[in-house]
Parts: sequence; C-alpha cells; structure tokens
Amino acid sequence: MNNRKLSAADNSLPLSAQIIWLTGASSGIGEALVHALQAQCQQLIISARNAEALQRLADQYSNVSIQAADITDAGQMLSAAEAIGDQFGRIDTLIANAGTCEYVDVDNFDSALIRRVLETNFFGLVNTVQAALPLLEKSQRGLIAGMSSSVTWLAMPRAQAYGASKAAVRHFLECMQADLKHKGIDVSIISPGFVQTPLTDRNDFPMPGKIDSSEAADIIVKGIRKRSLEIRFPFMFTLVLRLIGSLPASLRLKVTSAMARNEKSEKTGDQQK
Ligand SMILES: NC(=O)c1ccc[n+]([C@@H]2O[C@H](COP(=O)([O-])OP(=O)(O)OC[C@H]3O[C@@H](n4cnc5c(N)ncnc54)[C@H](OP(=O)(O)O)[C@@H]3O)[C@@H](O)[C@H]2O)c1
Repeated sequence: MNNRKLSAADNSLPLSAQIIWLTGASSGIGEALVHALQAQCQQLIISARNAEALQRLADQYSNVSIQAADITDAGQMLSAAEAIGDQFGRIDTLIANAGTCEYVDVDNFDSALIRRVLETNFFGLVNTVQAALPLLEKSQRGLIAGMSSSVTWLAMPRAQAYGASKAAVRHFLECMQADLKHKGIDVSIISPGFVQTPLTDRNDFPMPGKIDSSEAADIIVKGIRKRSLEIRFPFMFTLVLRLIGSLPASLRLKVTSAMARNEKSEKTGDQQK
C-alpha cells in the first residue's frame, strides 16, 4: 500500500504544460520574469498599461501574447480575463506582480499619495485576482503568486503608503490561502528585498543586499515551480528584517527612528554641500 501523503503539487500541471498570466510585465521584475518563464511554460500572457513595451517582448517569443490593461480598472481586468478565457480556456498560474512605490514626506503629508499607492498595489491586485479566479478554477490545480514585499516585516521610515499596501496584500493573500485550499487553488506570497529595477532606481537611500532582476526572476520561478507558500529573498536580508521586526516594540522603534534620523541628516547634509 502506498502510504505517501499527497503533496500540494501532486496533481498540478508541470510548468511546461502551464498557461500563465503575468501582470506588470513591461519592466523590472516582470520583464525579467517574461525572459525566465517563456522557455519553461506552454503559454505566457503578459499585462501592463504600456502596450508597446509588451509588444516588444511578445515579438521575441512564439508563446507570449499580450493583454494590455490597467489593474486599477476592474472592468479592464475582467475584459482581459474574458479575452484570455476565449483564447486559452483557462489559466494555471496567475502572477500578480504589477505595482508601484511612492514615499511619504511627513512634513508635506498627502493622503492622496497614500490612496494612490493603495489603489494600485492593493486594489489593483484584488481586481486582478477577481478577474483571474474563474480561469484558475478551470485549471487542474491553480496557483496565485502575489507580489508583496519584505517591507511588511518592519515599518520603515517613509513607507506609510508602500508598506501599508504590501501589508494589506500579505493579509489578503494569507486569507486567500485559507479560503482557496479546499478549492484546490494554491497561493504563494512573494516578498523580495531590494531588486534593481526602474522602481528602485528612483530610491535616494542605500539598498543593502540589492540583487538584479534576472536573479529575482529565477528565484520566483523556482518558488512557483515548488508552489511555495512563501517566496522570500534574498535570504540574509529578509532574515535580518524579520529578526528586527520581531523585537519588542520599544527596541524596534530605536532601530527605525535611527533610520529616519540618518535619512534626514543625509538629506540636510546633501543640501548643505
Ligand atoms: N524592485 C524591488 O526592490 C521590489 C521589492 C519588493 C517588491 N517589489 C514589487 O515588485 C513588483 C514589480 O516592481 P518592479 O520593481 O519590477 O517595478 P517596475 O519596474 O516599476 O515595474 C512595475 C510594473 O507594474 C506595472 N504597473 C504599474 N502600475 C500599473 C497599473 N496601474 N496597471 C497595470 N500595470 C501597472 C508597470 O507597467 P506599466 O507602467 O506599463 O503599466 C510595470 O510593468 C511591484 O509590485 C513592486 O512593489 C519590488
């Protein structure tokens, strides 16, 4: 008798037979994922707002097709999903990667900025999942891989908007893990540290442990292949963040307020140069 327990991956399709929908494919981590994934899956459907950038990528590969859409527009995402359904009938994996980042300046507090970031990173991901769910239900065993961030383990200075959006994504995806398990849909939460992309090229502070986007894409593909609940990297950076994040509140605040002070004095120093 075979006593081996069924693992989550046992009735899932191999990556080579999968139809994958990837958002945020026009630059950065998403673009690197296109190059890493296309050779390993059956069909890759790529989305973002910049249709020309998507087309340039799709022209390079025979199994990559495009569905340009704005994730903040639920109607556009539903139309994109309908078109994918008409053409391919199902998706096996959704990679909800699209996102943005803006930092808060407490001296010029702007609630509209926070709303904007939440609208893209959180509600955009929610719109994406809503559109993709019926297609995932048609898969033998669907997978949602959603983009959170390592920032969720430590409330960093100026990350009121970005950190809150990614913490909301984490919580949403953890709830989805619980609710979708009985439907045979798995959920992976992706939490990168710093990755070199157009998004982080705008950062004006040191980014310890920064890796390039192709390395990030390879780690994400590996995690998707294993259907890992958590895909976090780089190992050392995320470990240190989680350790600091688990300190008592007063100690944690010593660390984060010192970070804020350093940023402020670096800026003042810069201005005085
Ligand atoms: N880079 C990092 O260090 C890092 C760390 C942790 C998490 N992340 C997360 O990883 C994801 C990718 O970031 P990245 O660094 O690769 O940034 P990026 O190069 O700026 O790429 C962002 C992607 O999201 C798309 N996007 C943004 N707003 C959109 C919207 N409203 N509708 C549809 N697509 C939209 C962009 O395409 P269009 O502009 O063409 O629409 C682009 O393809 C984000 O969710 C980010 O928060 C990044």
